[in-house]
Amino acid sequence: MKRLLVSSLLLSLPVSLLAQFGPRTPEQDSLMARQQRKTQADHQAMMAQLNIKELRPGPSGNPKAPNAANADESKASPYTSLPDPLVLKNGNKVKSAKDWWQKRRPEIVEDFDREVYGRMPANVPGVRWEVVSTKDTMDGSYPIKLKKLIGHVDNATYPAINVDIDLTLATPATATGQVPVMMEFIFKFPAGFRMPQPPTSSTAPVALTWQQQLLKKGWGYALLVPTSYQADNGAGLTEGIIGLVNKGGRRKPDDWGALRAWAWGASRALDYFETDKDVDARQVGIEGLSRYGKAAVVAMAYEPRFAIGFIGSSGEGGVKLHRRLYGEQVENVASSAEYHWMAGNFIKYAGPLTPNDLPVDSHELVALCAPRPVFISSGSPDVEGRWLDAKGMFLGGVYAGPVYELLGKKGLGTTEYPAQEVAVDSGEIAYRQHSGGHTTVPNWPAFLQYADRYMKVK
Ligand code: GCU
Repeated sequence: MKRLLVSSLLLSLPVSLLAQFGPRTPEQDSLMARQQRKTQADHQAMMAQLNIKELRPGPSGNPKAPNAANADESKASPYTSLPDPLVLKNGNKVKSAKDWWQKRRPEIVEDFDREVYGRMPANVPGVRWEVVSTKDTMDGSYPIKLKKLIGHVDNATYPAINVDIDLTLATPATATGQVPVMMEFIFKFPAGFRMPQPPTSSTAPVALTWQQQLLKKGWGYALLVPTSYQADNGAGLTEGIIGLVNKGGRRKPDDWGALRAWAWGASRALDYFETDKDVDARQVGIEGLSRYGKAAVVAMAYEPRFAIGFIGSSGEGGVKLHRRLYGEQVENVASSAEYHWMAGNFIKYAGPLTPNDLPVDSHELVALCAPRPVFISSGSPDVEGRWLDAKGMFLGGVYAGPVYELLGKKGLGTTEYPAQEVAVDSGEIAYRQHSGGHTTVPNWPAFLQYADRYMKVK
């Protein structure tokens, strides 16, 4: 049983991290093989629904492979234009905030819903939050009140699927009122596993963990486990919250994918915070790395109650422009390894359609967060690799700028790509590339300095 649990955790990890667990047991191997077959079958079934016979394969993430992803900036821009966030489908220009909120934003949301991330069903069942335990303890030298929570999803319509959301909340025990909270989408690792630590940045040494940096300011933190309510693979699409709503059946092409489902869970956590007297629910931010960086920006875009977003190395499917021939491509995300993050319809853009046919691009996802602050974080291409496309993420921020400006705020304020460890943070959209690897850790001090402008302990 314990082995099986570890195996299912292993299955939810990025392949790059899996390698670090060493050899797998035959039991784990066969579980993985079974899960891969189930994923393949679901991917095929979605292709059949879409009437697609074949997809263009994506490039390889291995820089030495013959079909390696492009890492040459001079070849990165074969696309000559992006959808304009401030032009309506009928060709008229968006001239006022009212036009944005009433006309253009709903158009963009509809396109992301239908073609990119999928629609959240209207009949998602409710969640009952249970405080499993409350404990006074320490995080380093900081006294905290630690709450373990479970969000029980009402499964009366389909009892065969049980969904429980795993959430942890820590607030400073010394707090005299409600505090701002940053919530992270966390990777759940088997016991004993440690995330490899990145080399520390030369100018911003980090002595405290990110949680302790928050506690030091009098803020709290929350840890949300996305895979507790939606698995990180295609096989899991008939289970979890997506499977529960579909009563164990397959998705339709415009049904939500895992990113949207993970973001739904973050909104439900926010519902809980609104009832917790230790949390200032109007000052809750969302953070995540990589696939959870994608989830964090999707949560920010769709949930107006999130006050701030810290979007770590989100890459393709996150804030990196789809119309960029650099690093990971639309074709990779459309493959059976990653399509579960997205709406089934997204697969179409890997054949017969192309990324250029997408009705929206990622700058418009950032624009959906406007006017709220969004900090775009990346690692060093030399350490993190070029797959994530640090510049593509910067550009996703750049082209969202006009929407922020229309709403009386400031975007990045420059189109010039900054040097490593230089924060571009004079506006509501911020960007910083740290000198470490695939992590947000070295960017926490810069994020918090920027976040201080928006979040306050009262
Ligand atoms: C893969 C994937 C990325 C993703 C990353 C991760 O590299 O291609 O899109 O962001 O895994 O989540 O670690």
